[in-house]
Amino acid sequence: MTSAPTAPTRPADLTDDELARLRALTVRSHAIITAVQQPGGAYPACTSFSAYAGYAWFRDGSFTAEGISRFGDVASADAFHDWCAAVLTSRADTVADLLRRADTHDPPTVAEMLPTRFTYTGDTGQDPWWDFQTDGYGMWLWAVLTHADRHQRPLDRWLPAIGIAVDYLCAFWDRPCYDWWEEHLEHRHVSTLAAIAGGLSCVVDSGPLDEERAARARQAVTGIRSLVASQGTADGHLTKWLGTDAVDGSLPAAIVPFGLVPHDSPVAGATLAAVQRDLDVGGGVHRFRADVFYGGGQWLLLSALLGWNLAAAGDTTSAWRHLRWIAAHAGADGQMPEQVPDHLLYPQHRQEWVEQWGPVATPLLWSHGMYLILADELGLLHPRPQDQP
Ligand code: BGC
Repeated sequence: MTSAPTAPTRPADLTDDELARLRALTVRSHAIITAVQQPGGAYPACTSFSAYAGYAWFRDGSFTAEGISRFGDVASADAFHDWCAAVLTSRADTVADLLRRADTHDPPTVAEMLPTRFTYTGDTGQDPWWDFQTDGYGMWLWAVLTHADRHQRPLDRWLPAIGIAVDYLCAFWDRPCYDWWEEHLEHRHVSTLAAIAGGLSCVVDSGPLDEERAARARQAVTGIRSLVASQGTADGHLTKWLGTDAVDGSLPAAIVPFGLVPHDSPVAGATLAAVQRDLDVGGGVHRFRADVFYGGGQWLLLSALLGWNLAAAGDTTSAWRHLRWIAAHAGADGQMPEQVPDHLLYPQHRQEWVEQWGPVATPLLWSHGMYLILADELGLLHPRPQDQP
């Protein structure tokens, strides 16, 4: 939904060696992601991390697939979308039942809603998880339609699943659910609502829906926009959930790629400024000020998300800063962690997580996918003459 800037952007102090390393990391990211892609197409979140091993998320996978699609590996992205489509179509009856009960005196319970993560073969896992999250289904709609448009992929094979996701989101977009970080079931989260609106808008704009479904999707987007405008802003910026004044590192996604607010609007500018002020420390971005997970470090994927937004807003200098920060935190083997502990919000909480779940998830495929996206925004995937060493 955004295009790489056309003006020369290479920072003056970027050496040829560093540029070559930044490019090599795109190739390495693609290799790391595809090495663990499953035969059925799933992108595992992180195969080596105890709490994530065995599972694939629509959220992580959608952004990872976008990076892979931009990299040009059409077959890998196709396979991921096939996996998502199979997950949804195999639950067509379940979703039909949820929809039947949506507006009755017996609405589905949280435990009955679609999960947020699935086993590699598309089954519902047996391990307890904070499973009811709606954002991933909106993200998938955005990712599959953006990929199909970029590479002229016929939509037919994904259409039945697209219809199921649209129906599910139109019926349940306004229910409180766990957020991107699998927390706060009691709230309605602006980044979740933005992902849903972004996905539904993509489908409406791409035109594959029948008129009745398209009308429902448009109505849901309008509902989300007015709800966020009335309850999801404070001091001129978007907020973490409805009714707070705090921000979250995921909020830039409401601007790019999900377009809940236009990238040149005052609320977009104020949101990026608030995230920079409250969460960006030296190029690395925290999830939110109260984050205690592994002590509350800085997340590579959020640094990329902010950089992507800044690039779209024309601030390529800052976008390069985020790309270089991410690259500087890849291991010697190019593997990127979920978060780094350079600046911890709650250092006293780090050890309890290490003891519970082991070292921070590495490599996290979502980190690599986001690196590919930001690298593409800055012209590194498709080098222009002025960027050549
Ligand atoms: C994060 C989620 C992510 C999951 C798998 C969790 O710790 O909060 O956003 O989807 O890990 O990477």
